[in-house]
Amino acid sequence: MQNDINKLIGEMTLEEKAAICGGLDSWHTVPISRLDIPSIMMTDGPHGVRKEFEGSGEDLLTVKSLPATCFPTASALACSWDTELMFGLGEALGEECLAGDISILLGPGVNIKRSPLCGRNFEYYSEDPLLAGKLASGFINGVQNQGVGTSLKHFAANNQETERMTTDTIIDERTLREIYLTNFEIAVKTAKPWTLMCSYNKLHGEYCSESKRLLTEILRDEWGFDGLVMSDWGAVNERDDGLAAGLDLEMPTSGEDGINNIISAVNSGKLPESVLDTAVKRILELVFKGVENRRIAEYDVNKHHELARRIAGDCAVLLKNDAVLPLERKGSLAVVGAFAKDPRFQGGGSSHINPTIMSVPLEEIKVSAGKDVAVSYCRGYHLDEVNDAFGSGFSSVCDIPDEELIREAVEAASKADKTILFAGLPDSFESEGYDRTHMRLPIGQLKLIEEVSKASKYVIVVLMNGSPIEMPWISHVDAVLEAYLAGQASGGAIADILFGDINPSGKLAETFPMKVSDNPSFLSFPGSHKKAEYREGVFVGYRYYEKKQIPTLFPFGYGLSYTTFAYTNIQTDCNEIEENGKLTVKATVKNTGSRVGRETVQFYIHDVESSVIRPEKELKGFEKITLAPGEEKTVSVSLDKRAFAYYDDEIHDWKVETGVFEILVGGSSTDTPLKAAVTVNAAAENRMVFTRNSTVGELLNDPVGSAILYEIAGKEYIASLPPFVLQMPLRSVHMQMPDINEDAVSGVLDVLNS
Ligand code: BGC
Repeated sequence: MQNDINKLIGEMTLEEKAAICGGLDSWHTVPISRLDIPSIMMTDGPHGVRKEFEGSGEDLLTVKSLPATCFPTASALACSWDTELMFGLGEALGEECLAGDISILLGPGVNIKRSPLCGRNFEYYSEDPLLAGKLASGFINGVQNQGVGTSLKHFAANNQETERMTTDTIIDERTLREIYLTNFEIAVKTAKPWTLMCSYNKLHGEYCSESKRLLTEILRDEWGFDGLVMSDWGAVNERDDGLAAGLDLEMPTSGEDGINNIISAVNSGKLPESVLDTAVKRILELVFKGVENRRIAEYDVNKHHELARRIAGDCAVLLKNDAVLPLERKGSLAVVGAFAKDPRFQGGGSSHINPTIMSVPLEEIKVSAGKDVAVSYCRGYHLDEVNDAFGSGFSSVCDIPDEELIREAVEAASKADKTILFAGLPDSFESEGYDRTHMRLPIGQLKLIEEVSKASKYVIVVLMNGSPIEMPWISHVDAVLEAYLAGQASGGAIADILFGDINPSGKLAETFPMKVSDNPSFLSFPGSHKKAEYREGVFVGYRYYEKKQIPTLFPFGYGLSYTTFAYTNIQTDCNEIEENGKLTVKATVKNTGSRVGRETVQFYIHDVESSVIRPEKELKGFEKITLAPGEEKTVSVSLDKRAFAYYDDEIHDWKVETGVFEILVGGSSTDTPLKAAVTVNAAAENRMVFTRNSTVGELLNDPVGSAILYEIAGKEYIASLPPFVLQMPLRSVHMQMPDINEDAVSGVLDVLNS
């Protein structure tokens, strides 16, 4: 095939090469019939297959898509902490792609949730790069196992919707590597996505679509990516500069402008034709791979709906339960809230799916409750009217409490044994394309919760939202089930959990702060004047709340179950490892309750002493297990250099410092009952490079440096130096020790750096 592709490139005209580097339309690659080069189709993504009806709409906002299974969105999926579940989901999505003759599914979106206000958080996994990267890998492996490609997006540092097409993201190098690239790196290295989609924004003044550093040096040279890079839809600034940087395919297409831009750049010598050929080669490889993997496939709509229900059941997070759940199948229930009949199950924008089947929570609750339970329903509040998939054209009726609807709900709730109150964010509150400005529920719902919780003996709140909300009412209700946007089968999954047919096992993949102003990015999100500065550095999500000891509403990794788990017996296979060695950590977990349950065992590291500021805990491994009552299992993770390292922006590489690290294991970031310690010895080659601006203190921390200083000035004298001298650069030490002049300093540096 390689030979054939090279031969084809040899036969293509410059015009044909330029044309194939853009899309035919929104979703297809350009075919060249003269050379038998076919076209393949790609489509969104990520939690369902959004294949447009041909000619269904005039613009992006009004297009309609064919029915497809709408699975839970990423913010829900991430709470599964289950890479096998992600694989199974990916396989099902791959099947639906094959059935629609789609070769590339545009996802997963792996961007970090920097702020809970990002309108697109529902489409992203986590505030933690390891969790996001591993879940994305499971998804990619599943889809690609079917012979359908994925497009890992949006590369990189695209963490807000405000000015997303023009904003310049400013992040220090350490933060970029540790937080905003590690997620992509894990997915690229472990799952090899067929394609990757660059983001709209700039990074450090350069459009990501034109960043050679990102698209070639980091992605290909460092991480070994060998797939194709495509642009986000309309992300291309200058087409020839993009090609030179490593952007192969422009989507959808800038038509003649883009083609002419490439042709002129080649003709003028600005763009070597070999660079264009490389992009064409990657496009042809992708097209033929897509065609070779085409299969006639059908999928079973009902089976996929059932799968969507099982997945949603594995993702929902039980946030509070004052012994009110699971529900008994007797007595009476008041179901309150418009979402019970008209659920919010997905987010707005390019990922919007036209579901095959809809399971309505109210109906599912009635079925699951059975004939012995009297179920009433009251609407309670209004939902905004939205005109399109992006949530635009809305009014703000949901912010105006309807006293009559509330009165009805209060009356029904006061008569019933228990109330199930559905609340959450309406479409107009969050979507691709804009960010939220606050974290509250609509005022109509807040008023309803306040009044109903006064009237009802027991209130269970079920939440449908794509990202965290503030809960000033939490102490007035008895239980809270966070369903997120759980897809077309969410109604059934919610009923399964409420009645105990499924034991909840979701754990938060993001922190719920008490209030939006507690969030570390609060003062610099979304930035202004087309600039977003990530001033909080590596302290994103739980890394910040723990360091600053700021209480949260619910911490990262948290989620309740109907059973209980006990953590015992942490073991490491050694007490000391070399930097390039591996450490195995084991921990035992027992189901101490009376129901089968699933638990996510989380492994964090804590660097006891470090020369740079580091988070209190960093997630380094996790595993989800199923345990029968009384059963126990031992879970293990293997930790290597990267688990202990931070990114050093002086050496532009990952660095481990010699010292003790603690390994903390438990069921959430704030509940880690098990602790072990290990000493990691840094490799000698990690020694710093000394300059005349290195300080006396830095020399003293180095075995060779300290030996030299002791020889020059004597150990006792050095020990008696006041702290300010330790901070002096070598070039100024002569003020304190006249013997150490410039000549002496260069002699010392020669020895130190040799
Ligand atoms: C979104 C992408 C999406 C593309 C195609 C863009 O606006 O950012 O995530 O895949 O549109 O719909």
